[in-house]
Amino acid sequence: MSNKNSSDEQTQKPVKTGLVGHPVNHSKSPLIHEYWINKYAVNATYELFDLPCEDLKSGIKNLCDNGCSGFNVTIPHKVAIMDLCDDIDELAKTVGAVNTVTIKGGRLYGTNTDIFGFTQNIKELVPSFDFRGKKALILGAGGAARAVVQGLLQEGIEKITLCNRTEKKADELIKSSSNPKLIQKINWNDRSKESVLENVDILVNTTSLGMSGKPELDIDLGHLNPQALVNDIVYAPLQTKLLTDAKNKGNITVTGIGMLLHQARPAFESWHGILPGVTQELREIITK
Ligand code: ATR
Repeated sequence: MSNKNSSDEQTQKPVKTGLVGHPVNHSKSPLIHEYWINKYAVNATYELFDLPCEDLKSGIKNLCDNGCSGFNVTIPHKVAIMDLCDDIDELAKTVGAVNTVTIKGGRLYGTNTDIFGFTQNIKELVPSFDFRGKKALILGAGGAARAVVQGLLQEGIEKITLCNRTEKKADELIKSSSNPKLIQKINWNDRSKESVLENVDILVNTTSLGMSGKPELDIDLGHLNPQALVNDIVYAPLQTKLLTDAKNKGNITVTGIGMLLHQARPAFESWHGILPGVTQELREIITK
């Protein structure tokens, strides 16, 4: 009996997973998933599936036909993949994007793990920070901002001030959120004002400003509450100007790499049944 089991294990095909996007070659996701595959001795592969928009539907069909168990989704397919899913959970519906798909019995189940990634990163690095009753300032109103706003609402934030260059996008985000009454919009040009910054408990940059190759985020933190936690979800570079300025002022800062690491955990769990941990070793591998 035991011989049969061990020979079954030896002949079992690896669980096939990966990342769907375009382009995908610079992604850090393979490093993360391969680290956990090795650490937990899971019989699995994590591959890059580079699919241009016009090939998304046929590419996904191919993955299903070839026994793929699930995949992460990145730019530019996080919204388009929703049409190809058989079932989308409430988290993904609220964010309006799917970043993780699990395939079971030929059916595609879509979810969004960015909310978990955002909140877990803060909880891990600043365990003393209690979201309840706090005031947040969010810069940006894109896909990432949707996950951050939803995470803050779930954790019991008292008020969110949303500041985006394109006000219409801020309006749309507020309307589609689970508690629009707790969110107020302000003009992008008011982001450095004393009235905006003095009472902020948590400031999060969700814009692409400050990312390598993009312009810097221009914000004067002179009036920022000295107790405020500052989180930039940009992780390349790891220490953005926003974080450096905040650190120089004495504020607590949280880099964006942890959100990337933590959002990968529920995906790994849904494919392999193990919720993996974020270790210091993994952080070092990923930021090398
Ligand atoms: P993601 O899914 O990563 O959030 P996105 O949906 O393209 O990406 O959102 C990018 C965010 O960065 C948006 O809030 C965008 O502002 P607009 O809605 O006005 O486009 C913001 N952003 C990008 N470049 C910017 C710039 N030069 N100045 C101000 N905001 C900028």
